[in-house]
Amino acid sequence: MSSSFLLVTDLDNTLVGDDQALAHLNRHLQNHRTTYGTKIVYSTGRSLTSYQQLRQETQLLDPDALITSVGCEIYHQNSPNPDPAWSEILTPGWNRQLVINTAAEFSQLIPQPEPEQRPYKISYFLTQKDAENIIPKLQNNLQKQNLKIKLIYSSNKDLDIIPQQADKGQAMQYLRKKWQIPSTQTVVCGDSGNDIAMFSAGTQKGIIVGNAQPELLNWHKSNPSPNHYLAKATCAGGILEGLKNFHLLPT
Ligand code: GLC
Ligand code: MG
Repeated sequence: MSSSFLLVTDLDNTLVGDDQALAHLNRHLQNHRTTYGTKIVYSTGRSLTSYQQLRQETQLLDPDALITSVGCEIYHQNSPNPDPAWSEILTPGWNRQLVINTAAEFSQLIPQPEPEQRPYKISYFLTQKDAENIIPKLQNNLQKQNLKIKLIYSSNKDLDIIPQQADKGQAMQYLRKKWQIPSTQTVVCGDSGNDIAMFSAGTQKGIIVGNAQPELLNWHKSNPSPNHYLAKATCAGGILEGLKNFHLLPT
């Protein structure tokens, strides 16, 4: 017996990356959505602008909601503005300018292009070689200023500084509770560091795609859970494999 579920998936190198597998998965999801009312949420590190670019290049189903900028903005269907209640939750303890000034002391941090800098997200490029040394120092300096922030390093190159209350996991929980969907009927999918928060946020089911980055694979190794499935297939093929494994889609 099948029933509705909530799918929260990362885009780059998780849902997106293999067009043929994506088209195949989309057909399954669209059927399931029509028959059972399954909900689809994309959760990406990209800004809204950058998501819209990807959408023009890729065949994506329209999501029921969109989480952008590593969980710092939530867009509901038919609304061009981010959910103001979520923004309010992120505000206490956040001071954008103070974060920027503190980070400016480290020449190894190269600011990412302007469209990716958001009201609640400041992002840099940082090499893997420098990351181990710089991240703890930066964290320490930020904490000394009483800033309630979180550092997230992904794919050996991207460093995001976001409010402590934000990340892809917290944003997923916000929507899950708003829509009253039990964790047992929720499945999250990802490939890299900024997705770890979705796997660690609770007892949802989780699918790690076969092409996942070492930081997520290492996290999975140290935090094994029967709720989490490591797929053999890559990208959308891995999601389909995982959904069948959890009996959310028929095999
Ligand atoms: C996306 C965003 C970038 C962020 C990265 C990791 O690539 O565009 O700003 O650093 O995801 O979260
Ligand atoms: Mg990704």
